[in-house]
Amino acid sequence: MANRITLTQFIIEQQRELPGVSGTFTLLLNDIVTACKKISHLVNRGDLIGVLGSAESENVQGEVQKKLDIITNDIMINALNWTGHLSGMASEEVDDIIKIPGQYPKGKYLALFDPLDGSSNIDVNLTVGTIFSILRCREGVDPTLEDFLQKGSDQVCAGFVLYGPSTMMVLTTGHGVNGFTLDQDIGEFILTHPNMTIPNETCEFAINMSNQRYWEAPVQRYIDECLQGEEGPRGKNFNMRWVASLVAEVYRILTRGGVFLYPFDLRDPAKPAKLRLMYEANPVGFIIEQAGGACSTGRERILDLKPTGLHQRVPVVLGSKSEVERIVEYHKAD
Ligand code: F6P
Repeated sequence: MANRITLTQFIIEQQRELPGVSGTFTLLLNDIVTACKKISHLVNRGDLIGVLGSAESENVQGEVQKKLDIITNDIMINALNWTGHLSGMASEEVDDIIKIPGQYPKGKYLALFDPLDGSSNIDVNLTVGTIFSILRCREGVDPTLEDFLQKGSDQVCAGFVLYGPSTMMVLTTGHGVNGFTLDQDIGEFILTHPNMTIPNETCEFAINMSNQRYWEAPVQRYIDECLQGEEGPRGKNFNMRWVASLVAEVYRILTRGGVFLYPFDLRDPAKPAKLRLMYEANPVGFIIEQAGGACSTGRERILDLKPTGLHQRVPVVLGSKSEVERIVEYHKAD
C-alpha cells in the first residue's frame, strides 16, 4: 500500500523522460482530474441530490439533454477556463469553440471533451464517463476553429474517466495506456492498471443490433459470420455485448479484448454515423492504438482523418487488431 503511485506522481515521472513536455501539462491534467472527481461525486450521489432526469432542453446535436449533461459541462468549463493552461476549449454540448474569458491568461493547449458520455444510461444507474483530448495550440494566438481541427494523430494526450462500480481514469500521452482507480478515502487516482494492452484475438463483439437493416454489406457480412459461430467460416462461437456507453465498451475491450462497431448506417442520411470524431472517436482511437488495438471507420484509420467540423460524426470500428483488420478487409473487398 505504501508504494502506491498517484496519477500526479506518475505524470511528473513520465514528464521527466519526455523532452518538450512542460510542467504545465501536469497542471492541466490535474485541472481535469479535479473536475472529474467533482463529476464522480455528483454521479455517485444521483437522486439524493436531485441531479438525475431530463433537463428538457436539446444540445447542439438536437439530443435531449440530461440535467447532468449541463451540470458536468459547466464543471469542466469552470475547472479549466481560469487556470492559464488552455487557450481554448470545445465541448460536445456546446456549438462553437469556448473562449477563455479575457481576464485570464492563456496557455499552450486546447482541451476538447464530452463531459458525460453515455448519459442516456444515467437514469438506469449504468456506467457513464467523461472523455477528453488535449491538443497543442500556437502560442499567443486567440484560437480559431481551424486550430481545433487537428488530426487525431496530433493529440498530446487522451483519456476518459469511467463512473462505474469504481471511478477510473484511463490515460495515454502516446507512451502506452495506464489505468488509475479513484481511492475515495484519500481523493487520489492510484495507478492500478499499468500498461494496458488489448489481446489480439477475441470472440466478443459489440454492436447495436437494432440497426442491422441499415448497415452496409461489409458489416452485415462480419456480424453474420460471427453469429454463425462454430458452424460458420470463423469456426468459433462469439459472445455479444452492448452497454450503450462508449467508455464502458472501450474499457471492456482494454481489459479482455473484443471489437466495437458503430458503423456507417442509412437510418438518417443527414447523420450517416453516430459517434463524434473530436469528442469520442479520436480520443478513444488514440487510447486503443496505444494499447495495441486498432481504430478505423472501416475504410480509413480514424487518427488520420482531417476533421471538417467540431461536431463531425464518423463510423467507428475499434478493438482487437486482428478483428478490426478483418473488417477493413471486408470493406476493401466490397
Ligand atoms: O454517443 C453517445 C453514446 O451513448 C455512446 O456512448 C454509445 O456508444 C452510443 O451512443 C450508444 O448508442 P445507441 O443509443 O445507438 O445504443
